[in-house]
Amino acid sequence: MSPPELKRVAVAEPTRRSYLGWLLGLCTAGAGVALSVPLIRFLLYPLRARTTEVKWSDAGAVSDFASLTGPVQRSITVEQVDGWRKTVSDKIVYITKSSSGELEVLSAVCPHLGCSVQWRDSKHGFECPCHAASFRPDGSITGGPAPRAMDTLQTQIQNGRLMVRYQYFRQLVATKEVFG
Ligand code: FES
Repeated sequence: MSPPELKRVAVAEPTRRSYLGWLLGLCTAGAGVALSVPLIRFLLYPLRARTTEVKWSDAGAVSDFASLTGPVQRSITVEQVDGWRKTVSDKIVYITKSSSGELEVLSAVCPHLGCSVQWRDSKHGFECPCHAASFRPDGSITGGPAPRAMDTLQTQIQNGRLMVRYQYFRQLVATKEVFG
């Protein structure tokens, strides 16, 4: 009995030209990856960046508030950066003094449903025109449907200026929760 016939399979020998082609392809792919990394990082920056970065706003010279006897209204310019988008808007705040005599800045946004709270000299207190929530000069609540006191904003003093970090807080909740 004769042994089974073995088929010969031709295996192409790597040539110098195919080796160079393979090396060139590898280099091109490597260069493509290296170049795409900064591009991908650039495109993904808005997703990775902290959303809604709020810059500090100037509320005026600290000396202007030295003899404060009641809350004063100020319009501050607020710059917000959200990814690629930058918005600048004016917001109303009240500069007041806490019970311990420290300068405080109150947001004019009512913690009930967001109407603009106003200072009433005649009542020596704040009042919301929408559903009549009322607050003391330091922002603590005296009546109406608002679930908490007026919101205090973060402050710092830089070169004699009172700086404010404007933020939005969740409405209709008893605790102060930042949402923007
Ligand atoms: S929005 Fe201010 S009391 Fe309702």
